[in-house]
Amino acid sequence: MKDLFGNALLDYQNNNYTEDIITATSISEEDTLPLPYLFRSYEDMPPIEQKALSLAKGRILDVGAGAGSHSLYLQNQGFKVKAIDTSKGAVRVCQLRGVEQVEHLALLEETETFDTILLLMNGTGIFQTFQNIPSYLKHLKSLLNPGGQILIDSSDITYMFEDEDGGFWQDLHNGYHGEVDYYLSYKDEDEVPLKWLYLDFQSLHIAAASSGLHCEMVFEGEHFDYLAKLWI
Ligand SMILES: C[S@@+](CC[C@H](N)C(=O)[O-])C[C@H]1O[C@@H](n2cnc3c(N)ncnc32)[C@H](O)[C@@H]1O
Repeated sequence: MKDLFGNALLDYQNNNYTEDIITATSISEEDTLPLPYLFRSYEDMPPIEQKALSLAKGRILDVGAGAGSHSLYLQNQGFKVKAIDTSKGAVRVCQLRGVEQVEHLALLEETETFDTILLLMNGTGIFQTFQNIPSYLKHLKSLLNPGGQILIDSSDITYMFEDEDGGFWQDLHNGYHGEVDYYLSYKDEDEVPLKWLYLDFQSLHIAAASSGLHCEMVFEGEHFDYLAKLWI
């Protein structure tokens, strides 16, 4: 990984903002990810994220914290928060912005336990593939304190496979339709492509049950997106 995402965050943090990140996926055209969005204030967060923040309690783990916007909000509300990210640039930006506990760590390397685990901005993306879901859920479950909760958002992208008559087309040989290749470029450089998972609620619910977790939809967004709460 070249960490172009982290470089972009660092540029923005260091007042060197000249351009945005360009993203694309195997099923969608190029799109712009504005850097200021990653530094969003509570007021600029979508309702699904505001809802997640309102449900947070106890000691909190912010997985894939990015620029740390959710961590900072919660820390300012008086919560103890740990932010983790696999991007070195993101970790540095969290530190520079004042997140008190930050670690350069992949989710599967985390060993401490928490009352709330947050995975936001398509949190299921971190699982990367449909096949990986059970191992990620098992690990997340092991990080929960008694009474703890996982708050995770995603989108049901089935609508992208619907034709004009409402029919659904999918190449069954290609596996689960929400598994996409994710391309990112910044300042004319291309990142190594990533796998990224969009997961519909029903599939998350089934996977959670197989892992011994309760799963409830706590908020539904306006564009097939949702926030789920999982607990033991
Ligand atoms: C879409 S960004 C979301 C950032 C932030 N949560 C937000 O809402 O602004 C996903 C973040 O997850 C991080 N990430 C990806 N895989 C990860 C993993 N296995 N463990 C921890 N962080 C990961 C990426 O580096 C990136 O910062």
